[in-house]
Amino acid sequence: MCGIVGVTGNKNAVDILVNGLQKLEYRGYDSAGLYVNDEGKKDYLVKRTGAISNLRDAVNDMKINGSAGIAHTRWATHGGVTVENAHPHFSQDKRFYLVHNGVIENYRDLKEKYLSDVEFTSQTDTEVVVQLVDHFAVTENLNAKEAFKKTLSLLKGASYAFQLMDREEPNTIYVAKNKSPLLIGLGEDCNVVCSDSLAMLNVTHDFLELDDGDFVTVKPDSVTIENKDGEVVTDRQPFHVDIDASDTDKGTYPYYMLKEIDEQPNVMRKLSAEYLNENGDPVIEDDLLDSIKESDRLYIIAAGTSYHAGLVGKELFEKLAQVPTEVHVSSEFAYNMPLLSKKPFFIFLSQSGETADSREVLVNLNQLGYKSLTITNVANSTLSRESNYTLLLHAGPEISVASTKAYTAQITVEAILAKALGESSEVKAAKDFNLKQQLGFVATGMQSIVDEKEMINEISKKYFVNANRAFYIGRGIDYFVSLESSLKLKEISYILAEGFASGELKHGTIALIEENTPVVGIITQSNTAGLTRSNLEETMARGAKAITIATESLAKDNDDIVIPDVDQLLTPLLSVIPAQLLAYYTSLNKGLDVDHPRNLAKSVTVQ
Ligand code: F6R
Repeated sequence: MCGIVGVTGNKNAVDILVNGLQKLEYRGYDSAGLYVNDEGKKDYLVKRTGAISNLRDAVNDMKINGSAGIAHTRWATHGGVTVENAHPHFSQDKRFYLVHNGVIENYRDLKEKYLSDVEFTSQTDTEVVVQLVDHFAVTENLNAKEAFKKTLSLLKGASYAFQLMDREEPNTIYVAKNKSPLLIGLGEDCNVVCSDSLAMLNVTHDFLELDDGDFVTVKPDSVTIENKDGEVVTDRQPFHVDIDASDTDKGTYPYYMLKEIDEQPNVMRKLSAEYLNENGDPVIEDDLLDSIKESDRLYIIAAGTSYHAGLVGKELFEKLAQVPTEVHVSSEFAYNMPLLSKKPFFIFLSQSGETADSREVLVNLNQLGYKSLTITNVANSTLSRESNYTLLLHAGPEISVASTKAYTAQITVEAILAKALGESSEVKAAKDFNLKQQLGFVATGMQSIVDEKEMINEISKKYFVNANRAFYIGRGIDYFVSLESSLKLKEISYILAEGFASGELKHGTIALIEENTPVVGIITQSNTAGLTRSNLEETMARGAKAITIATESLAKDNDDIVIPDVDQLLTPLLSVIPAQLLAYYTSLNKGLDVDHPRNLAKSVTVQ
């Protein structure tokens, strides 16, 4: 949530900042702004509400230059969406400029204690920080670094990634990080700062990760990191990001979401190649398998779509590896931990590897000495660094706010791990499970569904575009896909959608069925297909428009969407695709911005 970028030492600072923000737009798009300084000769502050394109138009019109600057795209937490509340914020004497990703809990106390005579221009928690820096610079005669450090020491319950500039030191960016993600990029004649390496791949592929409590002084030719104890860090090694900058472009697609839906067959092939050897056996490090085998229960921790992938994972781990598995929403687990088994092992599922709710759980578990694995799409992300093991999703950058390919990649990596575990424990179901062959079927099946996308567009136009509510129902693994399908629809089309265990619908929620309410039945499991069909009939008897997604072997003549057969444990990888496409086309047909649904941000870095 909120994205920040900075650059010092490059005459094209404005372009670098705006292009960087554009790549971070998925982190929030309520407003955007930048501050640039042209070698101390002139400086500019530009802020606009709405998309990054508004900021781009403004800086183009103003023809501004600069060699150092900081910029921000906002997902509002404190204060409404106004130009005043957009970052950068500035001190009342316009000496200091600050951008912030995170939340400062005690900002009201600090304002009352130190800044009662300051006139604030915004309602944000961030402005308090920049005014405090100025306050200490003036009243205690401190330089920018000293005043900023003093201010940081007063922040409570804070998560932050800050960049501060002082007009009196026009080429220096001061950076501080606690809990919110932040990287320093090492360019040729310049250095950059960013919330996500994707933002700066046009400048560099080499980045330094920052730890909580780090304070960094970034100049065109040097980067000095001080740790939370104030000691200069000399052994931080850069890591290389192996992503082509063009992977983050939309290409000829109108929206990232459609591109990412279409990429899923290839992601399946890639995962098969990365994790399965020629014989089809999973290649997973022994140490990870041993750690899990020493445990008596798996706990999957995740949020949103990743949580839904975790629910499918429970089926996989229990059926293929015979390991009892629980799945928990991270924001709940963090503050209401269930009674744990004697030897738990934790699996964090997170596309971004940065979700604050999940990280809160990981920090607590690390303190308690528990072992964990992170399954993520982003190498070197915070969750990856702070857990004992990492398995990567290899899905390529996922930019659209609505997650698609990360969901199917998460389920696939869970299946690979479950097979590896099951095989190493001699579980027959795992040994008999020809995963390599099945993933081949899945990839081909996905391709056949995306090739028929126009048919799903028609269903969307007929039954969804004018609906004010919709339901997805199924049993077992189909119920888990119903949850994900309804989340997709609601988050980008704003139709109130619910996923329901189909047997549970008649225990209350069926009261919401009206004439033409769309109810999608997901039917991929032979033992429950008949029951779900009966439950669909019950909704039709009350006026619902029933739409079916069924596997070939369970399909009836009048089914709407028939998907290819694969092993029943892997059907979520196929049944979710029509649901993703239904959500996509409904959003598109309603004239909405598919990739940037209102009120949302992709990487949720506040709790
Ligand atoms: C929905 C979506 C979110 C994320 C959730 C967790 O389409 O993308 O529900 O799944 O915010 O994010 P990660 O997986 O990055 O931890």
